[in-house]
Amino acid sequence: MNIVMVTSECYPFSKTGGLGDVAYSLSMEYVKKGEKVAVVSPLYSKINFDKYPKLKKLFSYEVKMNWRYKECEVYHLFYEGIEYFFIKNDYYFNRPGNIYGFYDDGERFAFFALASTLLLKKLPFKVDIAHVHDWQGGMIPCILKTCYHNDPDLKKVRTVLTIHNPLFKGYLGRDSLYDLYNLPTSLYDDGSVRFDDQVSTLKAGIKFADKITTVSPTHAYELTTVEGSKGLWYDLILRQNDFVGILNGMDYTAFDPKKDKTIYKNFTVNNYKTNKKINKEEFCKENNLDPELPLFAVVSRLTDQKGLDLIYAMADFLTHEGGNFAVLGSGERYAEDMFNNLYARNPSHNYVYIGYSEDIAHKLYAASDFFIMPSAFEPCGLGQMIAQRYGSLPLVRRTGGLKDSVICYDAERKNEDIANGFGFDDYSIIDALKCVSSALTTYYYKKDVMDNLVKNALNTDHSWNESAEEYLKLYRLALSYND
Ligand code: ADP
Ligand code: GLC
Repeated sequence: MNIVMVTSECYPFSKTGGLGDVAYSLSMEYVKKGEKVAVVSPLYSKINFDKYPKLKKLFSYEVKMNWRYKECEVYHLFYEGIEYFFIKNDYYFNRPGNIYGFYDDGERFAFFALASTLLLKKLPFKVDIAHVHDWQGGMIPCILKTCYHNDPDLKKVRTVLTIHNPLFKGYLGRDSLYDLYNLPTSLYDDGSVRFDDQVSTLKAGIKFADKITTVSPTHAYELTTVEGSKGLWYDLILRQNDFVGILNGMDYTAFDPKKDKTIYKNFTVNNYKTNKKINKEEFCKENNLDPELPLFAVVSRLTDQKGLDLIYAMADFLTHEGGNFAVLGSGERYAEDMFNNLYARNPSHNYVYIGYSEDIAHKLYAASDFFIMPSAFEPCGLGQMIAQRYGSLPLVRRTGGLKDSVICYDAERKNEDIANGFGFDDYSIIDALKCVSSALTTYYYKKDVMDNLVKNALNTDHSWNESAEEYLKLYRLALSYND
């Protein structure tokens, strides 16, 4: 099967969060399974040409966006078994700073969607599946079904849309349908791509993709409820026969405590008691923290989705109750200020790094005893899985993928043989603090239980094997449909 992933980010070339991880690690799993996989992604200015000398220009073509004719250069790289096709247009993608957040993101990713659709026709192999992601790729199934349904090369391409984050709808005005996408406004007028009285490229994907997925079974359920769907329940219920939740796996190569070159000391389940400890001791020494205290870490985008008020309350509480807190992240300005202020008030118990750093992230996963992730909503979450892989016990709110990937310790049920983290249900400061208390009690007074939980976490299987099989099954099903 020839699979093409169309994604706005892909590790190691670009990443702001889990989408970058998933596009890469799922593709790698396909390579392992002998499938042919290509990734189509923008060529952002950040990509380091010196590091990838084999990156070569293949060809270029014009992309028509109503009155605009924009040049698209396609660069190719064969890397680790994956064919990468990068869409280069410096006006749209060669910009300083983040890869999103520009006033014209709608136009930038309209160009990307149109350029990628044209590329599907020009690839040197027949495409079976175009797997598109989030709002940035949402319009592609609509373009294919509306403009290319009679095209001999493209009419048999089947599309899968994965919703990683339902919050971002890809809003545009009605006129953008023809002004950016060369599409008729009747698609808006008949409701096909209309959402909240605007065009939503995510809704377009939900309407037109052959199959729709999200990144955990629990989130798939949540997306069909009024409370949990960010407004998408109605459109997803209409597509419920084609909609499924498949739990993400994580990248076992990039995050491997046995071989990780960025951490202070490598470890495995057999020697973590001595070696994981060295990671904590070194991190604490470098940052003036007492290594005898339990270390609670956060590695995250600092957005409301991640439960920032709960994180703050948990951090404030635990640093007064015998713990240390470390946060690595960037995002909402108020949150960055809030954590800087926490540090200023109590520097001997806090570590705060505002920014993005792979290096510090790995060090924190390896050094910490606990990983805080009390998200307001979480389609899947990779942070908690990575934490488990490094023997750091996640403290999660049981929502979305957090519910599907963490078995929470319950002292009454004595489930320490299987538990690999801590959790609570309601979005409540009291419940979050109880959860921290339980973690502290376990750390200080139930050393055997703590040990079991860490071992269980280290032994947890979050590899892609089964989930990739589920995707492949879904692709086959989509391909079995006639025109
Ligand atoms: P989301 O995709 O919603 O941001 P996930 O938990 O799925 O959340 O994925 C987050 C990914 O981004 C993880 O690989 C995490 O380690 C990484 N990450 C988040 N913030 C940072 C940061 N400030 N520095 C380095 N890595 C980060
Ligand atoms: C999104 C979600 C996160 C998920 C990631 C990868 O960014 O917020 O929960 O893990 O995508 O699917």
